[in-house]
Amino acid sequence: METITFHSYRGGVGKTLLSVNTAVKLATLDKKVCLVDFDLRAPSLQSYLPSDSLIEESGKKTLTEFLVGDIEPENVIISTDIPNFDCVFSGIEILQQPKVRSKLTQHGEGRILAKLFEFIRYCNSQIYEFLIIDCMPGITFRSLDALVVSDKIMIVTRPVKSEIKGLNLLISECYSKLEGVEFFAIMNQIEHQEDIAFEPNPEDVKVAEENVQIIWENLSNNPKAIPIRPIYSFRRIPFVTERIYVLKEKEHSFSQDIEKFCNNLLESCGLMK
Ligand SMILES: Nc1ncnc2c1ncn2[C@@H]1O[C@H](COP(=O)(O)OP(=O)(O)OP(=O)(O)O)[C@@H](O)[C@H]1O
Ligand SMILES: [Mg+2]
Repeated sequence: METITFHSYRGGVGKTLLSVNTAVKLATLDKKVCLVDFDLRAPSLQSYLPSDSLIEESGKKTLTEFLVGDIEPENVIISTDIPNFDCVFSGIEILQQPKVRSKLTQHGEGRILAKLFEFIRYCNSQIYEFLIIDCMPGITFRSLDALVVSDKIMIVTRPVKSEIKGLNLLISECYSKLEGVEFFAIMNQIEHQEDIAFEPNPEDVKVAEENVQIIWENLSNNPKAIPIRPIYSFRRIPFVTERIYVLKEKEHSFSQDIEKFCNNLLESCGLMK
């Protein structure tokens, strides 16, 4: 099983949209996939999948309840009606309990990391080929936990110069300390002239293209010289919604971008389509 975490320095760069669509696409390519909402502070998988009915009908619990309580890993994995695709939600109401919030934000002597390892071990013993983790952004105890258990990390960024400082901080403070992990960079929300209805200012087009180049070079020549593999690009979707494009709009350019990305990913895992 490959454990793949989508991470970023900043919030709102597209980790959830990309991880949900990637996970479902891999499932449609006949891979057994489990997607985990690990944005414990601000869960968002419920915007893409009907969490209330899935939880109620399955009688399952949330990942948060597993991490802070003593239930078994199998009690949080929910089968969906998408073939090959299971998922794990994070709890929202439970965050109102101050004790839970503090357990989630503190170091906790590695107890949450131990629970996460227990969960991964369980998934490994099952039929899954991919465990996809939609992580919270930035450097927190919990995002570090997710990075530590990963085989591959997808560094998600947007093509704006203000990302560079944050990315370099992530690389030197966090990624460079992880051993045996593969890093991939994803540049998301690239503007495409043909996708917009008005004629853009040529100066803005030039700056946008330069930014893509600058971030690309910065990731390739990063401060700690960690090997970061191919930079994947996803264009900005006009009128984006929180949806599983690869199911609902298979012909959409974003769905096609996801398909190419998944094929590359399968190749890098030695698993062809
Ligand atoms: N390629 C894209 N084109 C257009 N909009 C996008 C694209 N990728 C993401 N978005 C939009 O940007 C917003 C943030 O995306 P998303 O929630 O996936 O980011 P995130 O990194 O998971 O954020 P957070 O760190 O807060 O969890 C959403 O409204 C999403 O639909
Ligand atoms: Mg998110």
